[in-house]
Amino acid sequence: MKVLVTGGAGFIGSHTCVELLENGHEVVVVDNLSNSSEKSLERVKELTGKDFAFYKGDILDDELLNKIFKENDIDCCIHFAGLKAVGESVAKPWEYYNNNISGTLNLVKVMKENGCKNIIFSSSATVYGDPQEIPITENCPKGQCTNPYGWTKSMLEQILMDIYNSDKEWNIILLRYFNPIGAHKSGRIGENPNGIPNNLMPYITQVAVGKLEKLGVFGNDYDTPDGTGVRDYIHVVDLAKGHVKALKKIEENAGLNIYNLGTGQGYSVLDIVKNFEEATGVKIPYVIKERRPGDIATSYCNPDKAYKELGWKAENGIKEMCADSWNWQKNNPKGYEE
Ligand code: NAD
Ligand code: UFG
Repeated sequence: MKVLVTGGAGFIGSHTCVELLENGHEVVVVDNLSNSSEKSLERVKELTGKDFAFYKGDILDDELLNKIFKENDIDCCIHFAGLKAVGESVAKPWEYYNNNISGTLNLVKVMKENGCKNIIFSSSATVYGDPQEIPITENCPKGQCTNPYGWTKSMLEQILMDIYNSDKEWNIILLRYFNPIGAHKSGRIGENPNGIPNNLMPYITQVAVGKLEKLGVFGNDYDTPDGTGVRDYIHVVDLAKGHVKALKKIEENAGLNIYNLGTGQGYSVLDIVKNFEEATGVKIPYVIKERRPGDIATSYCNPDKAYKELGWKAENGIKEMCADSWNWQKNNPKGYEE
């Protein structure tokens, strides 16, 4: 298939481009590089030995999107483009709603005008809020989000479901990612956050590489085995492969589908620190801090539905996730900056 990958220069997008190209698909990337570097795409080309078109621009720009559809025979969109920093979304709600919601509305409008009604959307475990069941299945009711970023994902799921209900020619897959970490085995592409990382693994790797002094653990009084937050970490390459499987489902004209993408295993913050130290031999000093507002105690999924219906299951364990995150960081201490 020929796939338009929005946000393809980003962390998950770049890894997904590799897997798509290695599985015989063609890709076209649109990205405004607001949170990424074009270098990731050069490295995707280097890793796969394949070339593809890159359009630097914004999904809010419908002239650009129309041009992309006119110049390429797109079969499906994998839609990663979006702003994703939870804290920033509280400070800049308008920017988040505009970018994520208006951007998606614009994309879907141009897709429809050009006769493309196949989309895979990057959703998130955040739509479950404080989940009513653990492990979380896709039948778990959606919950209250604690920030505008989370609401954009929840609202966009609803918008896409309503679009499907109005026109059953659409094939729509909502993928609810749990916590992606890790990097391509080559160490050539990986996560490249701007400024001080918000998320656990990039914070740990920056402590390991000496950019940051010590990890702050946000709370040790949760109702979890060691009191620290428990999450379902998933290797980004496994997550990327989930998109290739989802694309196969789209080819079957499967209508609307929702899948959790996680491993089904929960690890606490201290488990991650311990596994990172064991996998890399690098010590991570840490200090216990206050709970971070909006955090929940536990989130991990039941990934059976994706296995049954897509034939997808995560293959990498926590040690590989830690080793690959570190391999990327130590080989690229400044990310994509030289
Ligand atoms: P990322 O920031 O690395 O990638 C997103 C890409 O989209 C960036 O390259 C950015 O430049 C681009 N972009 C943003 N707004 C754009 C716009 N208006 N027009 C064109 N390009 C635009 O983030 P990621 O971690 O790769 O996440 C990809 C998607 O998955 C996002 O939608 C994110 O919300 C979602 N998601 C991520 C996680 C996670 O923990 N990383 C978890 C759940 C869901
Ligand atoms: N944590 C720390 N110290 C840090 C960073 C995180 O102790 O410096 C803890 C958090 O309190 C939490 C766990 O590590 O218990 C994971 O935190 P992350 O920020 O890495 O991930 P979250 O689960 O909070 O959220 C991430 C994304 C969301 C997404 C969600 C589910 O940031 O956007 O995963 O996919 F919705």
